[in-house]
Amino acid sequence: MAGTILVIVGITGDLSKRKLLPSVHHLLKNRKISEEISIVGIGRKRTSPKELAISTAPFIRKPEQDILQRIEKSIIYIRGDLGDQATYKGLRKEISELQDSRGFQNVLYYLATLPEHFEAITTNLSHYGLAQNTRGWTRVVFEKPFGNGLEHARKLNAAIKKVFREDQIYRIDHYLGKELVQNIAVLRFSNTVLEPLWNKNHIDHVQIIMNENVGVGTRGEFYDRYGALKDVIQNHMLQLLALTAMEAPSKFNAMQIRNEKFKVLQSTRIVSPSDVVLGQYAGYQKEPGVMKNSKTETFSAMKAYVDNLRWQHVPFYLKTGKFLQNHVALIYIQFEEAPGVIFEQKTALRPNHLVISIQPDEGFYLKLNAKVPGGMDITQVKMDFCHSCVFGANTPEAYETLLHNVFLGDQSVFVRSDEVEESWRIIGQIIDSKIKVYPYTKNSQPKEADDFLQKENRRWFT
Ligand code: BG6
Repeated sequence: MAGTILVIVGITGDLSKRKLLPSVHHLLKNRKISEEISIVGIGRKRTSPKELAISTAPFIRKPEQDILQRIEKSIIYIRGDLGDQATYKGLRKEISELQDSRGFQNVLYYLATLPEHFEAITTNLSHYGLAQNTRGWTRVVFEKPFGNGLEHARKLNAAIKKVFREDQIYRIDHYLGKELVQNIAVLRFSNTVLEPLWNKNHIDHVQIIMNENVGVGTRGEFYDRYGALKDVIQNHMLQLLALTAMEAPSKFNAMQIRNEKFKVLQSTRIVSPSDVVLGQYAGYQKEPGVMKNSKTETFSAMKAYVDNLRWQHVPFYLKTGKFLQNHVALIYIQFEEAPGVIFEQKTALRPNHLVISIQPDEGFYLKLNAKVPGGMDITQVKMDFCHSCVFGANTPEAYETLLHNVFLGDQSVFVRSDEVEESWRIIGQIIDSKIKVYPYTKNSQPKEADDFLQKENRRWFT
C-alpha cells in the first residue's frame, strides 16, 4: 500500500488549525489525495487528536463528519519541544512503525513554525536519519517568512541544502496558490493582444496593492519582530511583481517559471529609503505582544524599478498595510494617456487601465473610454471578467492548492532559494533602517503615502 506520512511541526498553532487541517479535509473530500494518509503532529501544548479535530472544524467550509473522523483517527500527536532530542526520537519511532508495520512510504514534513527554528529542525531530522527514505519520497515545506534578512536566508538555504536537495524543498508563499495569482500568467501569455502593450512603451506605471482592514490580532509578538516589509513585501508583493514583469517561460514548468521570476527579481533595483513611506496604525503599541514604543511598521508604500529592457524607467508602486480602509489585493496597470487635444470633452480623459483583482472579488477588467449618448462627452467603461460569475464561488483555498501541489511534486508555485535571496536583497536597505514611521488612524493610510505619489503626478488606485 502506498501512503504518505504528513508530519506537521507546530500542529497546535493557528496555521495548522485554520489552514492546514482544513486543506487536508478538502483534499480528502475531493479525492485529490488518493493515497492513505497518516498525520504525525508535533506541538508543545497538551492536546489530543480529538481536540485537534474539534478545533479545526469551525475553519472548514462544509465539514463532513466522516472525513473529520478519518483525520482524527489518522493523527498521532507527539508532545515535545523542538530543541529536545526526545522529540525526534519519538518521531523516528512513529515513522518507523508506520513504514514497517503499516506500509507507508512517503514522508512530507511541514514546518509550520517560525524561521528561527528551521535550521535546528532540519539538522535534527538529518541527525536522526529522518531525512533519508528508501521506501518513497521525502519532501519538506517551509512556511514564510523564509529568514529575516538576506544573511539569515543565505545561512538557512545553505543549512537546509546540506540535508535536502532543492527538488525536495517547498518554500511556501500562499499568494502563489491564489486563483487569480495563478491566472496572471494565463492572462499575459495566452492573450496575444496584451503582449505588444506589456512594456515601457505603453505602460505608465504599475501598482501592487494589498490592503487589510484588520490589525495584527493575536500575532502581535511575531509581527512586532517582522513588520510589513518582512511579513508581506519581501514575499507576497515581490512575487506579484515578478509574475507581472516576467518574460514568458519557454515551458510552463517549475524550472522555467522560476528562472523567469528570478531574472526579474535579479533585475530589480535595491529600493532606496527615500522611495519608501512607512506607517503605524494608532493603537498598535497597545496590541498584545507588541512592545510599548515599538517602531515596527504596519504600513509600507514604496517605488521599485525593474532595470531591464522591457521595464526600464517604469515605476512599480507597492502598498500594503494593516487597518486600512478596505480589504483588497490587486494589481493595477496604467497605460499611457491619450493626447487630450483631439476631443473637446469637458472632463479630463482618463488613461486606460487593467486591474487584476486577487481578492475579495476575483477577476480582471480593462477600463476604456467611450462616448456618452447625446454629445461628445467621454466616460470610462469596463470590460469585465468576474471569476465567480463564470465559474461559481467554489475556488479552492490557496493552502489547499499548494498542499495538493506538494503531494504531486510540482514546485512551480513554490519559491526557489535564489528568488528568496534576491527578494531580501531588494529590500536590504530599507529593513531595519531608521526610516521615519508615520502614525495613521485606523481605516485610513498615512497622508505621506498620498503625498509621495502626488509628487509624481499620480495617485493610488482605489
Ligand atoms: C500572511 C501575513 O502571509 O498574509 C499576514 O503574515 C497577512 O500578516 C496575510 O494578514 C494576508 O493573507 P490573505 O490571504 O488574507 O490576503
